[in-house]
Amino acid sequence: MCGIVAYTGYKQAHPILIKGLQRLEYRGYDSAGISLLDGKVYTYKTKGKVSELESFIKNKHLKGSLGIAHTRWATHGEPNQKNAHPHFSQTKSLSIIHNGIIENYVTLKEELTARGYLFESDTDTEVLVNLIEDIRINEKVLLDEAVRIALCQVVGAYAIVILSDEHPNTLIAARKGSPLVVGIGDDEFFLASDATPIIEYTKNVVYLEDEEIAILTRGEELKITTITNQEKTPYIQKLEWNLSELEKGGYDHFMLKEIYEQPRSIRDSMRGRLNPITGNISLGGIIDYEQKLINANRIIIIACGTSWHAGLVGEYLFEDIARIPVEVEYASEFRYRNPIIGENDVIIAISQSGETADTLAAIELAKKKGATILGICNVVGSSIARVTHAGSYTHAGPEIGVASTKAFTAQVTVLTLMALRLAQIKGTIPKARFMQMLQELDRIPEKVERLLQNNGTTEIIAQKYKDVNNFLYLGRGYNFPVALEGALKLKEISYIHAEGYPAAEMKHGPIALIDENMPVVFIAPHHGIYEKVVSNIQEVKARKGKIIAIVTEGDTIVRNLADYVIEIPATEEFLIPILASIPLQKLAYHMAVLRGCNVDMPRNLAKSVTVE
Ligand code: G6P
Repeated sequence: MCGIVAYTGYKQAHPILIKGLQRLEYRGYDSAGISLLDGKVYTYKTKGKVSELESFIKNKHLKGSLGIAHTRWATHGEPNQKNAHPHFSQTKSLSIIHNGIIENYVTLKEELTARGYLFESDTDTEVLVNLIEDIRINEKVLLDEAVRIALCQVVGAYAIVILSDEHPNTLIAARKGSPLVVGIGDDEFFLASDATPIIEYTKNVVYLEDEEIAILTRGEELKITTITNQEKTPYIQKLEWNLSELEKGGYDHFMLKEIYEQPRSIRDSMRGRLNPITGNISLGGIIDYEQKLINANRIIIIACGTSWHAGLVGEYLFEDIARIPVEVEYASEFRYRNPIIGENDVIIAISQSGETADTLAAIELAKKKGATILGICNVVGSSIARVTHAGSYTHAGPEIGVASTKAFTAQVTVLTLMALRLAQIKGTIPKARFMQMLQELDRIPEKVERLLQNNGTTEIIAQKYKDVNNFLYLGRGYNFPVALEGALKLKEISYIHAEGYPAAEMKHGPIALIDENMPVVFIAPHHGIYEKVVSNIQEVKARKGKIIAIVTEGDTIVRNLADYVIEIPATEEFLIPILASIPLQKLAYHMAVLRGCNVDMPRNLAKSVTVE
């Protein structure tokens, strides 16, 4: 969602900014723009993709070694050229890019209008840049001070970068609630919403904290102050990801690459944490919180989207294996319903990006109420990773495809490790059985590898059903969240309406939808309630529904009932979600490709949802 890139240094800014915007495309956007400073400010913007911006600026004045660039995901005003960023102040002296929402912009706009300001766009951002200009002129203060005073009047969330024609080497940036990373090079600075546009130039980064203002002047040290005017010492961190991880590596799409990376990403999320020979599980990040977890009144898992589905699998894992009560909440609901939380509750926040606005707000709320907050994040140094008391990274590597795949299986893997570790401390599982469970978990990456070699079936199924309008996904127990996740994948990238349901609940509504045109995906591998699922399959078959079933290798009963089966290797019940979710990712992928959809950047969606 909205991408920021900025540069000041000795190189030409324009190619760095365009490449940076391309690296941020995965976040989701609908217009793009760039401002370059070369004596005066040159601003160009277009509706649509970065490639359209590139064509539009081809023969324009593109000189300048300082500039800002932006991809916008519309919040205020429709996605068009007028509302695209950068926005400039009335004198055209200041240019700004902004992620987030200024909630009190209507009041601020009225005040500025009364003072003679005119606005060209419908955006809250144009109000902010004029507020800064108004303060700078009327209070006769330097630009950084004007930014500080303006931000004290602002209610809402922002990550902003400003340039001024009076400061040819300086960028001013600030954040609250929306991420911003500073890259420190040799005689040059970079700024971006996340580290992906920065990695190829420098590994030294500073993640700005909320209410911090950064002043980046070429040839000088990075200066950081707070909006209450306190100086901060920049904390420089080293980026761990490599450039090659941000490329497609020969695959047609990032999503496909990420699906096929899962044997590696699952292994990486267990690396150094699981020893199937000694029976040792060690999650260094949460070691000091293990007692708190086993003594917790309950664990509350908060998350959004796919991460919420991983949380649902977590509920089954913690309750089944570690016998700790769990509730799973949508962060967006939790934060507004005055939840009852106490000091003996432990919150686990799950987020791939570590930047989801609702999850962050839910964490802040629970923190105020005294709960312990642990995080499961993929992006190192992200906001959620920093505001939680402790946590475990998933180590899946950068996930660029908007539809989450490898991050989901890595989240489930980390939750599995946590549940097993707590079971070990509590002694809820006999030692011999515990060792079997660990050994089977250790074999999962290998089984995922085998499963991914089994190509063809999902593509054939996609060919058959690519033109339908509806899909139903059904599963029970551990596989109910898998059904939800399978349906979400399909709707996200192929735009086919799909619903996930607990298989037995079908009788209470969805069964009315079933006729010969309705494909129903059953997650039906061998486990405790296999026979019950077989009965549910019979119910669909009796009404002529088309049956696609995920089954355990060698299954014959479901094979005789289903139109199509997809086999997965046999495993323990608690590990089925990791295996069963993968063919569903592939099915959604092939459906989207065959329908001509933009797999990696589906319409209207954003990878990182930094507004509520
Ligand atoms: C967006 C993404 C989803 C993701 C959700 C939560 O909707 O498109 O793929 O599951 O946000 O994101 P998080 O980064 O918190 O896991």
